Amino acid sequence: MEQRKIKRIGVLTSGGDSPGMNAAVRAVARTAMFYGIECVGIRRGWQGLINSDFIILNGDMTRHILGRGGTILYTARSEEFMTEKGREKAVSTCKMLGLDGVVAIGGDGTFKGALELSRLGVPVMGIPATIDNDIGCSNYTIGFDSACNTAIDCIDKLRDTMQSHERCSVVEVMGRHAGFLALYVGIAVGATSVLVPEHELDFQKDVVEQIQNARLAGATHFMVVVAEGAGSAIDIGERIHEALGLDPRVTVLGHIQRGGAPTGRDRETATRMGYYAVKAFAEGRTGSIICTREGGIVEVPIEEALAMQKHLQMDRYEILRAIASVGH
Ligand code: F6P
Repeated sequence: MEQRKIKRIGVLTSGGDSPGMNAAVRAVARTAMFYGIECVGIRRGWQGLINSDFIILNGDMTRHILGRGGTILYTARSEEFMTEKGREKAVSTCKMLGLDGVVAIGGDGTFKGALELSRLGVPVMGIPATIDNDIGCSNYTIGFDSACNTAIDCIDKLRDTMQSHERCSVVEVMGRHAGFLALYVGIAVGATSVLVPEHELDFQKDVVEQIQNARLAGATHFMVVVAEGAGSAIDIGERIHEALGLDPRVTVLGHIQRGGAPTGRDRETATRMGYYAVKAFAEGRTGSIICTREGGIVEVPIEEALAMQKHLQMDRYEILRAIASVGH
């Protein structure tokens, strides 16, 4: 049977934004143009599909956005899309706009929505973009590298003042239920201790003894990095005060980690992912997430992708402990 020619696709960004989303939108729109496919930007994620909130993505719209943080398409977390009625409205918009497919850029919430939509007959491709790097099917998610570098930059600055005052700093980083961001950042800033949700906290061993060992080795300031999923930095600061008599300063980095220009890695990965998502449509394949594996790109069916899990590399945790315990 002859393959149906794809004429028009939609692209949206959904869930928490991440640096590099614009680079992915650009790659989707431009690859579509390359294949002679029209590209419609759906604004405000799945909610935009319900509300028929769109813009035509032409060449001009995709200029000067490769290195821009945030997302020009805006993003949202849609409650209405969780309902059957909301999804029916979204399908109607797809029909009204004549969309032959939708590229959804975001995290696992976005992909759950993508699966529901594909079950209603709309062809969908997904692109993983979240600073948490917590998508099981893909080694890497767009925005992780940028967020790590932003957090590293902030913590380097904190270190300057902590070192001058010979203080203890407790820094909370994002990551939702995962410790990928915290562990990577912790290693890169030479943290005294890193707390991640994947490791059950033994406060005495993981925090008190790490600080004591560093002190005995000559350190006069200490940096404790807490993944938001592992607990509150404020609580950890209080416990450090009680156990060791230190007067820690607590910093919650928060949404600053989601902003800023994407790094080269995020721009390059987003561009490849956007290209392959549209190429799949153009070649008649749908219903998958574009994932990175061993440096290359693979397509993983959405349902299978959602069931996959990715584990924190605990050897990195051991590396950090070993190196931190001999002081800064
Ligand atoms: O998933 C990205 C993320 O930044 C998480 O790290 C964080 O827990 C969450 O989103 C914050 O969400 P919001 O922007 O809705 O506060």
